[in-house]
Amino acid sequence: MSPKEQLDTLLHESRTFSPAESFRQQANFQDEGIYESALQDPEAFWSAQAQELTWFEDFESVCNWEPPHAQWFIGGKLNAAYNCVDRHTLTHRKNKAAIIWEGEPGDSRVLTYDMLRREVDKAAYALRELGVQKGDRVTIYLPMVPELPISMLACAKIGAIHSVVFGGFSAQALRDRIIDADSKLLITADAGWRRGKIVPLKANADEAVVDTPIEKVIVVERVGAEAGITLHEGRDVRWQDLMASAPTSPYPAEPMDSEDYLFLLYTSGTTGKPKGIVHSTAGYLTGVNTSMRTVFDLKDNDVFFCTADIGWITGHTYLVYGPLSAGGTVVMYEGSPDFPDRDRYWEIAEKYGATILYTAPTSIRMFMKWGSQYVEKHDLSSLRLLGTVGEPINPEAWMWYHKYVGQERCPIVDTWWQTETGCAMIAPLPGLITTKPGSATRPVPGIAVDIVDEDGNSVPPGHGGYLVITKPWPSMLRTVWGDDERFRNTYFGKFEGIYLPGDGAHLDEDGYIWILGRIDDVINVSGHRIGTAEVESALVAHPAVAEAAVIGRSHEVKGQAITAFVTLREGIASSDDLVTELKQHVVERIGAMARPEEILFTAELPKTRSGKIMRRLLRDIGEGRVIGDTTTLADPSVVEALKAQYKDQD
Ligand code: WTA
Repeated sequence: MSPKEQLDTLLHESRTFSPAESFRQQANFQDEGIYESALQDPEAFWSAQAQELTWFEDFESVCNWEPPHAQWFIGGKLNAAYNCVDRHTLTHRKNKAAIIWEGEPGDSRVLTYDMLRREVDKAAYALRELGVQKGDRVTIYLPMVPELPISMLACAKIGAIHSVVFGGFSAQALRDRIIDADSKLLITADAGWRRGKIVPLKANADEAVVDTPIEKVIVVERVGAEAGITLHEGRDVRWQDLMASAPTSPYPAEPMDSEDYLFLLYTSGTTGKPKGIVHSTAGYLTGVNTSMRTVFDLKDNDVFFCTADIGWITGHTYLVYGPLSAGGTVVMYEGSPDFPDRDRYWEIAEKYGATILYTAPTSIRMFMKWGSQYVEKHDLSSLRLLGTVGEPINPEAWMWYHKYVGQERCPIVDTWWQTETGCAMIAPLPGLITTKPGSATRPVPGIAVDIVDEDGNSVPPGHGGYLVITKPWPSMLRTVWGDDERFRNTYFGKFEGIYLPGDGAHLDEDGYIWILGRIDDVINVSGHRIGTAEVESALVAHPAVAEAAVIGRSHEVKGQAITAFVTLREGIASSDDLVTELKQHVVERIGAMARPEEILFTAELPKTRSGKIMRRLLRDIGEGRVIGDTTTLADPSVVEALKAQYKDQD
């Protein structure tokens, strides 16, 4: 199917699903008037939401908007860790499970709010002991173990800014992020578990920190002797030793200004250099806390199972700050969904009685491929709400999720958002909105979204254009770390004072929004954002490569897969071994998620007269729309002939 045909099929989706009466009646939000009142007075709406947090000092004004910079809850003082942990220990939630953790090998650990408070406070003392000050950056490179949220919350408690780097990133990628953030301290683990194998985090960290500002490395013991690590005298400190010697008294939370930075999280953009997205304390926390109550309808007895890794924004928001600030119980799983068998998620959901499940379309497509028998083996009657995030969900995957996981009982919230937005921006409120498979429906209350044409004019129903957010919102990114110019240009450069997320969208006749995917050179592989420029720079850093161009090609399970077109240096011959070597090279420079699915050698890359690579032509080649057999690419006349079919416009 051509993209146009795909779109036509999608937009003719006529199935609709209204919330069941039983769900509607118990929902946190049952009055549709909330949309209108939030639209009329967003500041009043957000100010009321902010009252759900505990403030050390009240804010004096709600929002100051000097595009592109917003400040929210000005003059207020609060602490994110206090809001996520301490305050719940003063209530009936003291002995409630905060984090239920399941290790891949089958071990498990439950931390109640009171236990979590003790762990976070000990870690806070340890960080202070190692010289970490308010405002310092701490890089965290950990597997999905409880020490990861504990480390984040300990940073928040003392006012340090954490920068979590996903454990699947390579040493080189970790190093780039440490240098950019100028971190003095790194928290890592000896190793992690993935499909029963050891992931050598400490070995990567050792390589990454050489000649960086890192002075101390805290090492969590996860795997033990099998990891076979050595501690670097004078630099490395064992987490377990620090915790054993830390004071057990409560650590007084650092009162932070509303606008003080809470964390950095790196994400891909259109250049080779990842951007450190900066989030503030009060705005972020208000946004994520609100979305737990609105989009996820969170109640005190919910068990929220979010399958995302904390190394990405979904894990930050919906495994740590969202559910914990709201006093919820989260289920956190360390490993792979197919280990030891393909029913691992369902086994976990059943074991802990998950009531809400939040996962990604790519996983759902994988489950579909594996077959419904893995789901059907388990009693999932505890589930009451399902969520999805990361990429557009194709209607068949939506229907499968609805039928087999939700047993036609659970509403589905398809949540569109980004690292930059902090929390869900377009998503149904599950007790109020009739859903259509494949559409994220409409913006959540308090968020002003539009779809505009090239000149910034709203498109009428039945048309597509650029998705934009027209008003500031509390959990919006504050800047790009160390590069405010890039922040300005990337997000506010096209339309004055209006946020450009970089996605295309279509508005249907009922006013529903259909996200169509990225409009820039960012690829979405299994819900992970990867910049084509990052992969290209990794490839050209290999001595055999003269030039490289990377495109995303549609892929049944991953959504998109990476295809790289590579021209080799003079005298270097192409071979299967070289393909393997180049793929491995990308894995070493970035991480496994950036491994090209295919590498095509070409005698030259198609370029415009001004020297720009004709990506549209490459995409057509990648999708097989232009020529069936890409091996002919090695012949320069083929590329010339193809170019002749295209105008010089890409
Ligand atoms: C895409 C992940 C369609 C989109 C939270 C966005 C989606 C990028 C959806 C952000 C969705 C995320 N429907 N597309 N429900 N959710 N996206 O920063 O292209 O890792 O711009 O944040 O993922 O990816 P990020």
